[in-house]
Amino acid sequence: MDLMITNQAIAEAMKVKLGPELPALPEFVPDIRRAPDRGYRLDPAQTRTALKNALRYIPEEHHQRLAPEFFQELKTRGRIHGYRFRPAGPIQARPVQDYRGRCLAGKALQVMIDNNLDFEVALYPYELVTYGETGSVCQNWMQYRLIKKYLEVLTEDQTLVVASGHPLGLFRSAPDNPRVIITNGLLVGLYDNPDDWEIAAQMGVSSYGQMTAGGWMYIGPQGIVHGTYNTLLNAGRLRCGIDAGGNLKGLLFVSSGLGGMSGAQPKAAEIAGAVSVVAEVDGSRIETRRRQGWVREVSADLDRVFELALAAKKAGAPLPIAYHGNVVDLLEYAVAIDLLSDQTSCHVAYSGGYCPQGLTFEQRTAMLGSNRERFRQLVDRGLRRHFELIKALTERGVYFFDYGNAFLKAVFDAGVREVAKNGRDAKDGFIFPSYFEDLMGPIFDYGYGPFRWVCLSGDPEDLVRTDRAAMACIDPKRRPEDRDNYVWIRDAGKNRLVVGTQARILYQDAQGRVRIALKFNDMVRRGEVGPIMLGRDHHDPGGTDSPFRETANIRDGSNVAADMATHCFAGNAARGMSLVALHNGGGTGIGKAVNGGFGLVLDGSLRVDDTIRSAMSWDVMGGVARRNWARNPNAMAVAMEYNGTNPNGDQITIPFVVDDELIDSLIG
Ligand SMILES: NC(=O)c1ccc[n+]([C@@H]2O[C@H](COP(=O)([O-])OP(=O)(O)OC[C@H]3O[C@@H](n4cnc5c(N)ncnc54)[C@H](O)[C@@H]3O)[C@@H](O)[C@H]2O)c1
Repeated sequence: MDLMITNQAIAEAMKVKLGPELPALPEFVPDIRRAPDRGYRLDPAQTRTALKNALRYIPEEHHQRLAPEFFQELKTRGRIHGYRFRPAGPIQARPVQDYRGRCLAGKALQVMIDNNLDFEVALYPYELVTYGETGSVCQNWMQYRLIKKYLEVLTEDQTLVVASGHPLGLFRSAPDNPRVIITNGLLVGLYDNPDDWEIAAQMGVSSYGQMTAGGWMYIGPQGIVHGTYNTLLNAGRLRCGIDAGGNLKGLLFVSSGLGGMSGAQPKAAEIAGAVSVVAEVDGSRIETRRRQGWVREVSADLDRVFELALAAKKAGAPLPIAYHGNVVDLLEYAVAIDLLSDQTSCHVAYSGGYCPQGLTFEQRTAMLGSNRERFRQLVDRGLRRHFELIKALTERGVYFFDYGNAFLKAVFDAGVREVAKNGRDAKDGFIFPSYFEDLMGPIFDYGYGPFRWVCLSGDPEDLVRTDRAAMACIDPKRRPEDRDNYVWIRDAGKNRLVVGTQARILYQDAQGRVRIALKFNDMVRRGEVGPIMLGRDHHDPGGTDSPFRETANIRDGSNVAADMATHCFAGNAARGMSLVALHNGGGTGIGKAVNGGFGLVLDGSLRVDDTIRSAMSWDVMGGVARRNWARNPNAMAVAMEYNGTNPNGDQITIPFVVDDELIDSLIG
């Protein structure tokens, strides 16, 4: 290195940096879940780089002390999290006015980050994992501190750029540009696979953002309850003869996982009127859901589990039951199931996401650290057995759907060729439907998706007011989907869904989102509520390209492309969303999805009204336009309506329909 560049000169060249004080080693609160050892696997040269990478956040006077500490973290956890730099005590979202900052967005984004790391919300809060086994806010606590410092000084004329958790710096922009741009886990195509990503993550240069973890928009398990509720209702309508106005009374839903997202299943099933049995190997996660009231009965005894389930089914009363044990054991026993799914973290099956049959949760955690190869073999064996049982159940009439966790892909990777429709690869999908193909895809094609908001004041009354205002914006008679969404928001308060910030999720299409957003911004302007953060899950009509989930119902061959999510991200940035994020992986794993999201701070200004009109509409309609071009009929209908009704001459290109017989007569 150039001798002129000293660490003193470097320190003097930065106003925003970690302070000279060395925080004390943390005391870990007992009973807070910890991420498993991810298995250190770097060679000596990579290890040297990894240590230098972590230490580059920290003034030189501490390097001597921290180098061995970080090396120890790397060897024992497979990552350098810099535990020492975690602020002591619980982290929780506070009212926005309690944060330091030079602009509202700078403070609002701190609310969102802190909510993602709340002990009550996050899966592994000490490891900065919000949900989905590996979905992280950023990679380490040095980054967390530095991001917070940048957000405290960020102005309306600057943009903070964050690359896989690393705050690259503040750059000049303008008030109607994004305040924060985030990317997570993006890799060059040749290296876009879990193996190369793992090395990059251990070296501290790539982060798995999942969707709203690294996009800082997670709102607790509520975020997925609404989608799961819609999915279950539609599964019942499709396969169990439930009419459009009916619920799942007297039906039994069986699945697995009571983690960050999967924990929504029993609550959603209960709201939909069903009895549910959800298997979970980790007792602590069952306890979390039991305390919340989302699970009412817990047992490790399968006789007892099914005795309860069958009695509730007969009585037609919803009952959420947790089975403390492996889902494969549950399926070996299972009887009288109507709807079946799985929500173990199969997007990272070999990194701890899937617990093999025959291992307790504790044994799984120990083996992950001690014998990865054996663990991998057991995962494959468990998945193969899991598949056989599902096959047998579906032959008896049970409806199984893949619930967006790459379960069927994991089964394929475990060596089961027959799970692929074409028996060769995953390109044409699998022999069982994904929930996306059968249930949610046609709904996404209309533009409906998981729109959400956070009342930044932290005042529960603001949430009540916004719930009421949103409900008034919905016409329940327009489509069956509107009626479902109307019922959802009508009952949302009663269903006590809030964990963490005062937030709400509500499936809406483009028109509905724009209408509600303008209404909310007007309420902020009039002082009826405090400022609001709008956002959505990346799992949205335009937000995610993933042939294993969001674009599983794209059948013109473009399911392998990732143009849509990229355009969505770029368009949202250009139109002035407060935060834009683009990630690799999401719910299905590295290389299997590109997904993006946004945050928009409602400050009551007319400028934000303009952003709502252009950006909120684009955010959804870009996805509808692509789905329409793939000849999906619901999307074509919406695109035709859009072309006919928008006042400023916008136009979506609509595909001409080709006669199948003409093509068949040619190809045979
Ligand atoms: N469908 C969707 O919209 C959607 C949304 C978000 C996430 N996901 C995907 O769903 C999966 C779960 O997400 P999450 O946030 O709940 O992850 P999570 O890791 O927090 O929870 C998964 C749970 O499954 C349990 N588990 C693992 N193997 C098991 C087994 N064999 N038997 C019983 N329990 C077992 C784990 O102990 C864990 O609690 C992920 O792959 C995620 O990417 C889907």
